[in-house]
Amino acid sequence: MNKFKLDISKAINEKVLVGYQNKVSKIHQDIIKGQGQGSDFLGWLNWPNDYDKAEVNKMVEVANKLLNKGVTIMVVIGIGGSYLGARAGNEMINGIFDRAENGMEILYAGNSISPTYLNQLEKYLKGKSWAINVVSKSGTTTEPAIAFTVLKAALETSFKDANERIVVTTDASKGTLIEVAHQEKYPAFVIPDNIGGRFSVLTPVGMFPLICSGADYKAIFSGAQDALTKNLANDDLTTNEAYRYATTRFHLFKNNDKYSNEFLVTYEPQMAMFGEWWKQLFAESEGKEHTGLLTSSATFSTDLHSLGQFIQEGSRCFFETVITVATPEKDIIIPKTEGDINKINYLTKFSMQEINQKAFNGVIDAHVSGGVKNIHIEIGKMDSYHFGYLVYFFELACAMSAYLLEVNPFNQPGVEVYKTNMFKLLGKKGY
Ligand code: PA5
Repeated sequence: MNKFKLDISKAINEKVLVGYQNKVSKIHQDIIKGQGQGSDFLGWLNWPNDYDKAEVNKMVEVANKLLNKGVTIMVVIGIGGSYLGARAGNEMINGIFDRAENGMEILYAGNSISPTYLNQLEKYLKGKSWAINVVSKSGTTTEPAIAFTVLKAALETSFKDANERIVVTTDASKGTLIEVAHQEKYPAFVIPDNIGGRFSVLTPVGMFPLICSGADYKAIFSGAQDALTKNLANDDLTTNEAYRYATTRFHLFKNNDKYSNEFLVTYEPQMAMFGEWWKQLFAESEGKEHTGLLTSSATFSTDLHSLGQFIQEGSRCFFETVITVATPEKDIIIPKTEGDINKINYLTKFSMQEINQKAFNGVIDAHVSGGVKNIHIEIGKMDSYHFGYLVYFFELACAMSAYLLEVNPFNQPGVEVYKTNMFKLLGKKGY
């Protein structure tokens, strides 16, 4: 069942919220007319409707060709915005252990500089049929460049048809990767110029790995289209959920110095990587000019056994945004044990989903009574549709949120500082 429900009643008073209407309306006009800071990077705004259908067909064709060849593992090489979306989607949709019947296992590389990780990955790949999708908009990022060089050599050692097992996702004309793709005749997919890394999940950056994973790409776009239709058509703060969320978090941050952190909480381990994607989206978009909320994420009830004490009684410096899922893939009925040896027979009248729901209700009451403001999002299922919906919802909310803070949502000057320093230390030409 498709469902998306936002509840901000435990975080802000409705009258206070609508007090921001004029401000939000003005920013909304700037967004849709492309007049705000960084508006060269608004390609994602209408992307769920405008995406290149022929390119998506080509992605399906390339994935099928690899599957027909017997490829069972796709190693996605990328970092930051060129990695997190694919992994968030793959885990949310396919789960942590599972892979779709008609899909590949997706593994990741180039998201660190750890030789140990790369060695272990190579060991795991030995004897298996694998391929590479290297993803880099600039084509110059050090981490993926190293991993690509190492894994390409390993692929060439293992397979005669190595050249047919490499797929490139990069800029249409800039950077070294596109040159390599042309030279070696690798299939290449384009990251549009006007879409930055963290807003690129629905482009080939996320979509090719997700298609390889067997995710329902049509449903992903359909979820994103619904989020676009519902949230971009009008700016009314009584109905526009993306703007309601953005304004609430802005209000908590700006009007109450205490709330300098936002926790994205889920009750589903397979959404932990979604939290990682969300963290980057907001932190890299807002964390500049010495402002912005620090984004953190947690999985409950797991983290209640580590962070629970702090959340209940520690420094009141954060609020929570909790995502719950109405319907699990498959519920579990707890079996009664003879003699009640585990002392949990009283629970057998509930399914595990019902217990998870009770945990959520109990936790929310406890945290709210402990002074933690709470925003709640409920989605129907962890599937392709809801992944697409959430991605677009948060992207639009993020643009509004950064503009409320009066920063450019689409640049990342701070990330460049570290990259430049590293190039200098490593003696790269020109640095
Ligand atoms: O969001 C961003 O811009 C960054 O996280 C980049 O995606 C990341 O640095 C990787 O860059 P590239 O795709 O150019 O390799």
